[in-house]
Amino acid sequence: MFALTTPYLWYTTRATGMVTLVLFTLVVSLGTLVANRVGGRTIGRFELNELHRSVSLVAMVFLVIHILTTLLDSYVATGWLSPIVPFISPYRRVGVALGAVAFDLILAVWVSSLLKARVKQQSWRFIHWFSWLAFASAIAHAYLTGTDAKRGVGLAVVAACTLVVLLSALWRFFARPARAAGRTALSPLAAAPAGETLPATSTAERDRAARRSVQWRR
Ligand code: HEM
Repeated sequence: MFALTTPYLWYTTRATGMVTLVLFTLVVSLGTLVANRVGGRTIGRFELNELHRSVSLVAMVFLVIHILTTLLDSYVATGWLSPIVPFISPYRRVGVALGAVAFDLILAVWVSSLLKARVKQQSWRFIHWFSWLAFASAIAHAYLTGTDAKRGVGLAVVAACTLVVLLSALWRFFARPARAAGRTALSPLAAAPAGETLPATSTAERDRAARRSVQWRR
């Protein structure tokens, strides 16, 4: 095995950890806005949903960098499977395990969204609830494992993210609108089930269909 260690890997792990947490806070808040049917004339629910999905993609990129720099840095030997298998890291066993739990749950949410056309609406909704658990796990992971998360500005960022998501959860729970089955938008990356085609084939058609549905939902 090769040994690679430089403070820059460690700085990158710390920075990308914080950026990922902030981006996931944004993803959860935007998701709550969509779920609670917020959207007006200037920015509609379709646009909010698009933003929710785009930010989640950027968050995943930062999370992958966060994990890669951790794995490459031989100063903290966590083990190659530690990002997905909890409790096998010799370094900060519980803290890294909570990061792995968050990652596994986020992967489940992400894959189910990519396969949304093939997954039952109810199952997709159930799996999407894992995001709250993933977030709680990520917060505990940041606090237990992080260098910056325990004091000063880092702690303030973690506390602010926790507060924003806690308020989102309360708002989601208490201001829950009546269900509208089948009204959530499909991911543009979602594949149609075998033998079926998605209703709108070209980007322009999909755009028109989305705008029609946004007008209908307002
Ligand atoms: C959703 C998933 C995750 C999020 C949001 C996240 C976020 C964070 C945050 C905010 C920190 C604190 C940075 C600091 O205070 O310096 C951190 C630290 C850390 N994370 Fe993650 N993380 C996640 C998953 C993982 C996974 C799966 C691993 C496993 C390899 C991991 C490894 C680490 C390590 C080793 C540190 C300590 C860095 C240091 O020494 O300060 N993280 N993470």
